[in-house]
Amino acid sequence: MIVATAKKRTGESATGPCGGIGTGTAADYIPARPTLPKLRAAATQCRGCGLWTCGRVVFGEGPKSPTVMLVGEQPGDQEEQMGHPFVGPAGKLLDAALEEAGIDRKSVYLTNAVKHFKFERGEKSKRRIHKKPNDAEIRACRPWLEKEIEVLKPRIIVVLGATAAQSLLGKQFRVTQQRGKPVKSALADTVIATVHPSSVLRAPDDEREQARRDFFADIRAVAKRLPAR
Ligand code: URA
Ligand code: SF4
Repeated sequence: MIVATAKKRTGESATGPCGGIGTGTAADYIPARPTLPKLRAAATQCRGCGLWTCGRVVFGEGPKSPTVMLVGEQPGDQEEQMGHPFVGPAGKLLDAALEEAGIDRKSVYLTNAVKHFKFERGEKSKRRIHKKPNDAEIRACRPWLEKEIEVLKPRIIVVLGATAAQSLLGKQFRVTQQRGKPVKSALADTVIATVHPSSVLRAPDDEREQARRDFFADIRAVAKRLPAR
């Protein structure tokens, strides 16, 4: 018999290690006749993948009938600490892009492909360093995102970066090649992908300004598709 002692399960501690054992899918935790509040409450119990040990779950946030849903990768360090999506550095850049495009952040629903922050500890600093979620984790967490889309029915879905694209558009999809223009998808009337705002922040010094401009232009392309107010 294999006993799962190799990985210590410390529960949902923000200071503990990140990684445990999950059931394989969040579908095991989806409530019957889901509503957004029911989903949000149920997600706190999720052990669909091993990331349940990595801190608190950060669910999507926004109005009940948003026109636009933006989907990121996973919460970051600050998002996990505060319990809200897109409140750290990438969120600040996203805010600026939305504002410049004339989109009110309060009018959009913000969520992530993966609802837990995956990290590893820095060797010396012990800082929590972001780790990209793997295929199994993205797949395991997808039922939450699918239900958010089903319940909220946004007219426009904005896919931010490769992880969200992998979850919603498949692994073959390349955001760098298909960014800024609508892609064929049954998920919503309009689905537009662009890069993740973190990729702008990570760009080399001499490329960052252009990366920022390109990202802002993609968000402006989303604004153009909003129904006139
Ligand atoms: N990056 C994301 O993809 N999502 C967040 O919520 C924050 C940073
Ligand atoms: Fe569940 Fe998603 Fe967290 Fe994994 S990352 S435990 S599937 S909520």
